[in-house]
Amino acid sequence: MSEIANVFTLDGQRIAFEPGQSILTAALAAGAYIPHLCAHPDFPPHGSCKLCTVAVNGRNGSACTVTAAPGQDVRSKTPELNEIRRVLLQMLFVEGNHFCPGCEKSGQCKLQALAYDVAMLSPHFVQFFPHREVDASHPDFFLDFNRCIMCELCVRASRDMDGKNVFALAGRGRGSHIVVNSPSGKLGDTDFAVTDKAAQVCPVGAILRKEIGFVTPIGARLYDHAPISQVDLAAEEK
Ligand code: FES
Repeated sequence: MSEIANVFTLDGQRIAFEPGQSILTAALAAGAYIPHLCAHPDFPPHGSCKLCTVAVNGRNGSACTVTAAPGQDVRSKTPELNEIRRVLLQMLFVEGNHFCPGCEKSGQCKLQALAYDVAMLSPHFVQFFPHREVDASHPDFFLDFNRCIMCELCVRASRDMDGKNVFALAGRGRGSHIVVNSPSGKLGDTDFAVTDKAAQVCPVGAILRKEIGFVTPIGARLYDHAPISQVDLAAEEK
């Protein structure tokens, strides 16, 4: 009996995978980029942003949560899927307050870089302009809720790697928001530290270090010279 090879195709490219790997993990390991935002190589998949939506045998699914299987026909670089990604990004942009030109994370922000990558030209939808506070109570960090996209990477990192549970998600639907687990609700009243994993993982400018603003000048930042598809692929290929 012949064995079925652990191979699927992604936009026609043959991708070998290890049993149990997700389509996204296998693709990145094989040097093929699929846009993604809430996925991070150090954490189990979250499946919330849907930027990694691909068509698997004709049905849409999240590449970070769908397990790779032999013979799958996976499509990612299609006009239809990139339109879905553009709309998802547009919704994220109008749901918060993202002022890229004045943001310290500009050029190093995955949300901004993905918007460039899928050629998002405008927010398209009516801006919500929600009222959100900036928490500057911590000596080393600003916590800017305006830029939070609720990927929960800080929640997962603080809970699962730092063992601190500094962050949590509260509310539902449009009322969903990140909260700080301290009696005052302020970051300054927690033991959040520079060395925490949660301090390293924010893909946008919601958790920002103080006193190092613009240490990397505009024009010399992570995504200034190459698109996120090349930069993150090189970083996440294993
Ligand atoms: Fe797959 Fe966010 S990266 S849902």
